[in-house]
Amino acid sequence: MRELTIAIDGPASSGKGTVARRVAETLGYAYVDTGAMYRAVGLRVLRAGIDPRDATGTTAVAESLHFGFDWHKGQLRVIVDREDVSAAIRNEAVGAAASAVAVHPGVRAALLQTQRDLGAGGGVVMDGRDIGTVVLPSADLKIFLDASLDERARRRHAELSGSTYEAIRGELTARDAQDSGRATAPLRQADDALRVDTTGHTIDEVVGAVLALVEQRRVGA
Ligand code: DC
Repeated sequence: MRELTIAIDGPASSGKGTVARRVAETLGYAYVDTGAMYRAVGLRVLRAGIDPRDATGTTAVAESLHFGFDWHKGQLRVIVDREDVSAAIRNEAVGAAASAVAVHPGVRAALLQTQRDLGAGGGVVMDGRDIGTVVLPSADLKIFLDASLDERARRRHAELSGSTYEAIRGELTARDAQDSGRATAPLRQADDALRVDTTGHTIDEVVGAVLALVEQRRVGA
C-alpha cells in the first residue's frame, strides 16, 4: 500500500506532538517534529546571547545548524551538530525563544528545505504550525488539532511543576498570539485540513480518530 504523507498542525499544547508520534509509531512511519527544530534554534540563540528578536543574528544561527533525528529506546532524539539536544529544548524558556525566532522569514527559510526533504517520499507524519499550509502543501492528509485554551492550560499545568494555572494560561495566550499573528507562515488551518477538537478527549481517543481518517484516506487513495 502506498505510504502517505501526513501533516498535523495546531497550537501549543493541543496534544499534536504525542498524537503525531503515536500515529507514526502505529503506522511504522517516520515522525518529524518541526517544533523541535525551532526550539533548537532558540536554544542556540539563547546560549550565544543573541536577542531572539534580532532577525539577522537568529537567521545566521539557523543557517549554521545541521539537524538529525533518530529513535532511541522509543524516544525521538534531536541531534544538532552532533549534540543531542532532546532534553535541553524541553523547557518554557526555550519554547518562548523558539516562538520568537520563528517570526523571522530568514529563520523559517533556513529550516524549510530540510523539512521538505524529510517529508519527501511519504511514510511520514510531520507536525508543526505551517506543515499543511507551507511545508507540505500537497500532503495526503492534513489534520488541524485544536483544543480550548482552558483545556490546553489545564494539560500543561498538569505536566509542569512550579507555575500557577493562571501564569500558564497567560503564556499560552501570548504564544498563540505570536504564532498566529506573524506575517510569515502563521499558525492557520489549511483550507483542505480536517479539524479535530481534542477538548474533553483522551489521547487514545484522538489517536484512534486520526488513524480512522488515515484508513479512509488510504482506501480512497
Ligand atoms: O510545537 P512546539 O511548541 O515545540 O513549537 C515551538 C515553537 O516553534 C512554536 O511556538 C512556534 C514555532 N514553530 C513554528 O513556527 N513552525 C512550526 N512548523 C513548528 C514550530
